[in-house]
Amino acid sequence: MLFSVLYVEKKLKRVENYTINYGELSMMIRLVAADSIGTRSMCTFVDTGDVSLVIDPGAALGPWRYGLRPHPKEVKRLEEHKAKIASLTSKVDLVIVTHYHYDHIPRPYEDISWLKGKTVVVKDPENNINFSQRTRAHLFVEQLRKVGCKILVADRGSIRIGTTSIKFSKAVQHGNSPKLGYVIEVCISTGSERLVHTSDVEGLVDEQQLDFIIQNKPDIVICDGPMTYMLGNRFTENDLEKSINNLMRIIASCRPTFLVLDHHLIRDLNWRDKVNKLITYADSFGTCVCTAAAFSGLSYEPLEAMRRELYESFPVSAGRNFKTDEDYV
Ligand SMILES: [Fe+2]
Ligand SMILES: [Fe+2]
Repeated sequence: MLFSVLYVEKKLKRVENYTINYGELSMMIRLVAADSIGTRSMCTFVDTGDVSLVIDPGAALGPWRYGLRPHPKEVKRLEEHKAKIASLTSKVDLVIVTHYHYDHIPRPYEDISWLKGKTVVVKDPENNINFSQRTRAHLFVEQLRKVGCKILVADRGSIRIGTTSIKFSKAVQHGNSPKLGYVIEVCISTGSERLVHTSDVEGLVDEQQLDFIIQNKPDIVICDGPMTYMLGNRFTENDLEKSINNLMRIIASCRPTFLVLDHHLIRDLNWRDKVNKLITYADSFGTCVCTAAAFSGLSYEPLEAMRRELYESFPVSAGRNFKTDEDYV
């Protein structure tokens, strides 16, 4: 089911004790969990004054890196991030879900009472979706129904709340191939400012992923960066080149103040070297390319990429390392 224009009554409840200085920015935007702060996630909190919302209320750990299971420090960080996501999301007006991987939504066995009664705008669970995500979507929608959520389909839709407009793209492919399914991109606009959030596009390798951003001319872009840790494997040199060129096109065309790159890119400790050309180009336009950690004023701790060092610095006795049945997120 598609919806075109939906008006949601402004609610009085607001997130409390959540003050961040964003300089010139009028929207309050904060990454709640992200790879650069220690878990696989792109969970983002936004308060425009008209509406408070969370995009993708999930976080996960990479089940394997360098032949190692997650270090206990990663497990602790995941618990902290999940607690923060639950507490923050329980207070917002609206929740948006861009796709159904478990670093973006809770797992089926998790308690989601913190989503009770929420309006949740989700990626279409029936159309433009692969088998795996469709199965997960049905389980998630069932979970949401059990806690009394109002569920709306996002794809190509828009919502107006006071002076805030929220637009959703059509389904665009997940990363460099539709094999992993599709995601939706989100644009949040106030009179003076525009944010685009694009999860799991792996650095915008595809023209259709790019279109929505170029059309909306955002001031702030929060984007899943190129998957360079899989370079030569699931992500080719050609993909990286396309990604850098597409990100440069965004800078030239939209001239955003911030380009926040995180998630897949930050799983590579040498990510800066891989996108150096982009950073230099962005500098010449006055665009700040940064991680979620830098953007949110938090310590840069890409724990998954640091996993080998973690085990060297903080050895874990046999049998105490994290056991997981997690599949690919
Ligand atoms: Fe994903
Ligand atoms: Fe993801």
